[in-house]
Amino acid sequence: MSEGSTLVVSKIRDGTVIDHIPAGKALDIINVLGIAGKEGLRIAILMNVESKKLGKKDIIKVEGRRLSPEDVSAIALIAPTATINIIEDFAVIEKYKVAVPNVVIDVLACPNPTCISNKKGEVLKTRFRLVSREPLKLQCEYCGTIILGDEVVKLVIRKR
Ligand code: CTP
Ligand code: ZN
Repeated sequence: MSEGSTLVVSKIRDGTVIDHIPAGKALDIINVLGIAGKEGLRIAILMNVESKKLGKKDIIKVEGRRLSPEDVSAIALIAPTATINIIEDFAVIEKYKVAVPNVVIDVLACPNPTCISNKKGEVLKTRFRLVSREPLKLQCEYCGTIILGDEVVKLVIRKR
């Protein structure tokens, strides 16, 4: 950042900071987390800010929100470089890198309408096997349908 233009974004008191998001992906993550801004939670979304590791990155800060394991898997699918920081009383009490599990359970809907996981009244949790990380490729364990890269964004199951 050039001199005299220092950007100051408040630290948060309690909540979650999702850091090291590839530049441009923050809004996809906001979407899959179901964050609408209407809950009254304090939210900061920084896009295309300087990063030593990534060149440019996005950051999301959300007060009063903890992430479920399914949230973290969804973030990992969209932003494999992301770091999750859990904040309590202004301090980072936990920091970890997201990781895509070898089997992604109950995170993505199968795009095949005839897949058994889409049957009405069916309580099966969806299951996708990670075929490849880079480029991202997943396969439905029930019907064999393949999901690639950016397709995941619109398939994330929103539970909130
Ligand atoms: N953060 C925040 N509010 C806090 C504490 C931290 O918003 N009360 C943010 C920081 O601004 C930073 C992220 O959480 O974006 C991680 O904080 P910290 O671990 O202190 O920063 P770094 O050491 O730079 O993190 P890393 O090594 O993961 O890049
Ligand atoms: Zn399927």
